[in-house]
Amino acid sequence: MAGRIPRDFIDDLIARSDIVEVIDSRVRLKKAGKNHQACCPFHNEKSPSFTVSQEKQFYHCFGCGAHGNVISFLMEHDRLEFPEAIEELAHYHGVEVPREESTTPVFSAEQKQQRQDDYELLEKVARFFAHQLKHHQQGSKAVDYLKGRGLSGEVVKTFGIGYAPPEWDTALGAFGRTPQLQQQLVDLAIVSQNDKGRRFDFFRDRIMFPIRDKRGRVIGFGGRVLEKNDGPKYLNSPETRVFHKGNELYGLFQLKQAHRSPTRTLIVEGYMDVVALAQFGIDYAVASLGTATTPEHIQSLFRTAPQLVCCYDGDRAGRDAAWRALQNALPHLKDGVEMKFLFLPDGEDPDTLVRQIGKEAFEQKIVQDAMPLSQFLFEHLLKNHHVASDEGKAALITEAEQLLQQVQGDNQRMLLQERLRKLVGQNSYKLDLQRDMQLANQRRSKDTKTDTTPVKNQLSPVRTMIKLLLEQPALASQCQEVNPALLNQDLLAGLPMLTELHQYCVSHPTKNSGQIIEHFREHPHGRALAKLLIDNNASDDDDITNLFEQRKTQVFKDSFAKLIDLQINSRMEELLAKSTLSGLDEAEKQELKALLSEQN
Ligand code: UTP
Ligand code: MN
Repeated sequence: MAGRIPRDFIDDLIARSDIVEVIDSRVRLKKAGKNHQACCPFHNEKSPSFTVSQEKQFYHCFGCGAHGNVISFLMEHDRLEFPEAIEELAHYHGVEVPREESTTPVFSAEQKQQRQDDYELLEKVARFFAHQLKHHQQGSKAVDYLKGRGLSGEVVKTFGIGYAPPEWDTALGAFGRTPQLQQQLVDLAIVSQNDKGRRFDFFRDRIMFPIRDKRGRVIGFGGRVLEKNDGPKYLNSPETRVFHKGNELYGLFQLKQAHRSPTRTLIVEGYMDVVALAQFGIDYAVASLGTATTPEHIQSLFRTAPQLVCCYDGDRAGRDAAWRALQNALPHLKDGVEMKFLFLPDGEDPDTLVRQIGKEAFEQKIVQDAMPLSQFLFEHLLKNHHVASDEGKAALITEAEQLLQQVQGDNQRMLLQERLRKLVGQNSYKLDLQRDMQLANQRRSKDTKTDTTPVKNQLSPVRTMIKLLLEQPALASQCQEVNPALLNQDLLAGLPMLTELHQYCVSHPTKNSGQIIEHFREHPHGRALAKLLIDNNASDDDDITNLFEQRKTQVFKDSFAKLIDLQINSRMEELLAKSTLSGLDEAEKQELKALLSEQN
């Protein structure tokens, strides 16, 4: 795997890019005042609420809440991973992406070569099994089985389905010519080795489903028995150095081959379901590989298409699996993506159902019967909590809030919270919230003994300063007397974030907003920062964005002065309180005296 891309390079790349130009080449932009606008590419709309700021090198959609810098745009719009988005942008500027030589490279040259060999070997093994289906003397039995299950020759070919003969050593014999090759077969779990060191084929007398990664490389297999016997119905490759089940989805490669940008993906439980659905024209289904649906799966699918339909049995196990998938999905539920749940009638799976009712009726079922995430979520919660009593309501609110907090998209979260409010009755929920807030406030004032009288101005000095820095990073080095690091960082919640941002701006005075957001992408404060930048666009335009430069400097300094005051006041109150409770020592008395005189 390639080394890390140097941060400086990413910074430069953003600096030399113009977000307006990059977006305009994909979505036609129109100038509107200082900004550019278009209908949002991330959700359906008729009037443009997608706004791009050249000055900030930032985009934001007022409709769906999508936002970010030029890299985020490429990731979302072109469905790229982070390094791919960098590659894309570098290509646009005609430059090579440098990679840092790391002292401990992720993979050594030998390991890289090894991987290459692994993929080649697995590809050959897959082709070998496909060949056996046609040419092994027992192959006809397997072909009959597939025919009996209604599979077409075409779909068998698309998915490269094959047959592992019943002998103990067909793959071993064909590919294990040297001890090294045999070891490689063992490592890749094509061949097993018993305690006595005897080696034999892992898959015997089974229908073989090669599993490919996103890029189409064979990484493992699933093998189904032809008729009921003692062994498990499906035998899957265990995890190997190239096969990691939690990341991979059966059928994702074929899906991507069939659709450049699908509008929907379907996640089902079995290999046969994926294949049968594809044969009937529903060629956008994938299956997790005998594991639960992981967060990685969900992320991968949301990158592929904006709608994800999870298709499960209607029974208890199916509902449990769906609930786990839902929990894993919440942190990836951005505005602009949608997750639904389709529970199938008893005894049916997608394979049997699509054969019965066909493509159109199946798709109609998806549209009509698939349950929105919100419905499934609240139905599930209501099963465990009885909202008739206040205690039940409280428990429901507690559990629900814990889940809803995780939802990434602001709008999605808001709508879910809205539903929760309706569910428990507006008033009681409000009361509960108010009580929570009071408690939190009491706790905070107890912890830090600060003055919690809210600042009259809607915009706190901390927020004001953060916004100003995001707009104009040079302010940090221009106003040397302003240094948030001097303040007690516990004074206010946003202070550590301000301090860190300030320090970054002092050393990088020429960065634009897009670059700053990039720097904080993986940072715990990253999302909060990006949001503040949006707030700028949204409501407080007159407050800060449109101030004259000189005025900005003044506001920046004034806000810092307010923070100093706040700190002095809070310390004074602390000392005064202590003096009445337990008395002050000499040093504290001096300090109080100094503070009091400073205030006058
Ligand atoms: P199912 O038993 O529902 O599979 O298991 P299916 O695809 O409908 O099988 P057919 O139609 O009888 O051929 C769903 C999935 O669970 C995993 C496999 O990934 C399978 O596709 N599984 C099932 C196993 O890994 N091992 C098993 O023994 C059974
Ligand atoms: Mn089945």
